[in-house]
Amino acid sequence: MDTRILEPYLDNVLEEAAFSDLPGHYRGKVRDNYDLPGGQRIIITSDRISAFDRNLTTIPLKGQVLTQIARFWFDTTADIVPNHVLAYPDPNVVIGEKLKILPVEVVVRDYMAGTTGTSIWPMYKSGKRDMYGITFPEGLQENLKLPQTIITPTTKAFDAGHDEPLSTKDIIEKGLLTQNQWQTVTDMALALFERGREIASERGLILVDTKYEFGFDHRGRIVLGDEIHTPDSSRYWFAETYQARLEAGQKPESFDKDFIRSWVIQRCDPYKDDIPEIPRDMRLKTAAVYIEAFERITGQKFALPDVKQPPKMRIHKAIKDYSSTIVPRPPPKKAGDGPMEVMLEKGKMYSFCTCGYSRKQPFCDGAHKEFAPDYKSYKFEAKEDGSAWLCCCKNTKDQPFCDGAHNTLNEKS
Ligand SMILES: Nc1ncnc2c1ncn2[C@@H]1O[C@H](COP(=O)(O)OP(=O)(O)OP(=O)(O)O)[C@@H](O)[C@H]1O
Ligand SMILES: [Mg+2]
Repeated sequence: MDTRILEPYLDNVLEEAAFSDLPGHYRGKVRDNYDLPGGQRIIITSDRISAFDRNLTTIPLKGQVLTQIARFWFDTTADIVPNHVLAYPDPNVVIGEKLKILPVEVVVRDYMAGTTGTSIWPMYKSGKRDMYGITFPEGLQENLKLPQTIITPTTKAFDAGHDEPLSTKDIIEKGLLTQNQWQTVTDMALALFERGREIASERGLILVDTKYEFGFDHRGRIVLGDEIHTPDSSRYWFAETYQARLEAGQKPESFDKDFIRSWVIQRCDPYKDDIPEIPRDMRLKTAAVYIEAFERITGQKFALPDVKQPPKMRIHKAIKDYSSTIVPRPPPKKAGDGPMEVMLEKGKMYSFCTCGYSRKQPFCDGAHKEFAPDYKSYKFEAKEDGSAWLCCCKNTKDQPFCDGAHNTLNEKS
């Protein structure tokens, strides 16, 4: 990609997305998050690049790239694992159902790789054979495929702490999860990874390893949260050069977005010193790498946003517009509760579903199909005065609006 096209974006980055009129702000390393009272979490991915537990600089369009890669993967895996996504009101924003995030980060690996303290290669190289409750055989080599796909869980360090390795035994004994919950999580993680490996391979890529975060939704169901298979949470290698480079004793080719890290290490102790200013051309090159990653992974062309529009303002407007359409979540319906009335925007199309999902919000996006296959959903237009009666009783399987007359017929609303 020609970095000259990207140059104007250098002065229009999303450094942060702090909005005083939104509730429950939490700033993560890369994302600004808000918790809305109705149980929705706004996740805004900024252009910050983080390493050595700090922010190094900003990379133009990185937030949009990451959000759009995650979106591609949420879409292509929703049929096998339910996820938190409710809406994408802006290219940098995902609205998720607010989950109770599990205290375990789930790392899945296919290769003997990595460089950080929790990676398996540095530990193996130093002679360790028992890691994460798994006994590794002798003779494994750096960057070679493991005998089988493995899960190397770590603690989820809330509030910027460090991740520590865990084994299945630790997870159960420390009471982090029950045996059944951990089984569900591992089944889901392996299914996601398998799908990721297949799709990546169709695109000439090897999905080497990745990290997932799961959480409980409002019904206590375990679903996928956070991000999925982005270049920040995953390692990808290029399949076509893998073998030749290995034989030549070289590192596998990847989306090389780590040259900023190397540049920093050569100039200072990144854990102690001030970080020198990162040159503009390095930030541009990194932006191009992220965009190439998006295009390679998804097979889609990256949509450059309007460079004249400041992203922070654009995002704020998109979130405000989105928030104004949220219908407060009604209290969970019990048998005999009857229908509920909602006010809708006249003339707009809505869909309503008789599944339990639409008790959380009256409108169902169909994402629940995998756990409520026999329910019906309806598309309808709001009535003249904007009012509508929605009901989860059996009668509404035949008519989307309930007049309440069935309450005596059908106790189990
Ligand atoms: N659906 C969700 N409900 C609640 N929390 C979520 C959801 N999805 C992601 N999160 C959390 O939102 C945060 C996203 O921000 P970001 O990734 O920048 O933070 P982080 O620096 O990784 O977080 P932390 O410092 O807490 O580890 C993470 O803490 C993640 O666990
Ligand atoms: Mg994170």
